[in-house]
Amino acid sequence: MENNAVITINNLVKRFPVGGDYFTALKDVDLTLNKGEFTGLVGPSGSGKTTLLNIIGGLDSPTEGQVSVLGQALNDTSHSERARLRRKHMGFIFQSYNLLPVYTVFENVELPLILNKIDPQERDKMVAQAIKWVGLSDKRDSRPAMLSGGECQRTAIARAIVHQPALVLADEPTANLDAENSHHIMKILVRLNQELSTSFIFATHDEKIMAYLRHIIHLDDGEIIEDEKIENPKASA
Ligand SMILES: Nc1ncnc2c1ncn2[C@@H]1O[C@H](COP(=O)(O)OP(=O)(O)OP(=O)(O)O)[C@@H](O)[C@H]1O
Ligand SMILES: [Mg+2]
Repeated sequence: MENNAVITINNLVKRFPVGGDYFTALKDVDLTLNKGEFTGLVGPSGSGKTTLLNIIGGLDSPTEGQVSVLGQALNDTSHSERARLRRKHMGFIFQSYNLLPVYTVFENVELPLILNKIDPQERDKMVAQAIKWVGLSDKRDSRPAMLSGGECQRTAIARAIVHQPALVLADEPTANLDAENSHHIMKILVRLNQELSTSFIFATHDEKIMAYLRHIIHLDDGEIIEDEKIENPKASA
């Protein structure tokens, strides 16, 4: 692996069993992403974006090929090693927020730190910092039902970055938000990317997200049809 590479993928194929047959969702995908990149997997519905993101996140496994994430070859790691890699070094943002309804903003954001066995004093500081990053300090004791969609997604972002992961994976993070909230969220993520050198990968077909990306991987029908670097994104923080 190159020193700078956060993800290297070679000859990745993903087939899903369907009935007695199988469906090929990813066909011979090769990809390198370096530290600090702000990347999008872009393409029509069904092109394989979520499948690729799930494999990078160790949530699903390749049928063929090699996938290395943060210096670990996923093929050679056990289930618990992959879980540890996710817990310590990765953050996940989903379209549907996935917040726990009985917990407050603070408690939702604290969860990854409890799983990582960070002690309570340190936890308090880290949670306060993450909540401040996303501009929700005044909502720290609210439960998700009392928040707007944008506030829920900002809570989910705080939870994804509270342990300062090296890599954040986001699947359609703005799909349920209006334009203003989408831009707000993207600007927060660009700042995190620039100030903490966190690497980001988005799966998206949202033009608003694309305007911020500096690396766009175009997928169609399970294949990479273009790998595009953008010097000057249309939008910035
Ligand atoms: N578990 C599964 N079993 C069978 N087929 C699957 C499975 N998961 C995904 N697929 C198929 O693989 C293809 C790629 O799906 P994927 O979810 O990666 O698309 P996507 O690019 O994320 O689309 P969208 O923009 O709609 O989210 C689709 O045709 C889908 O039906
Ligand atoms: Mg998808």
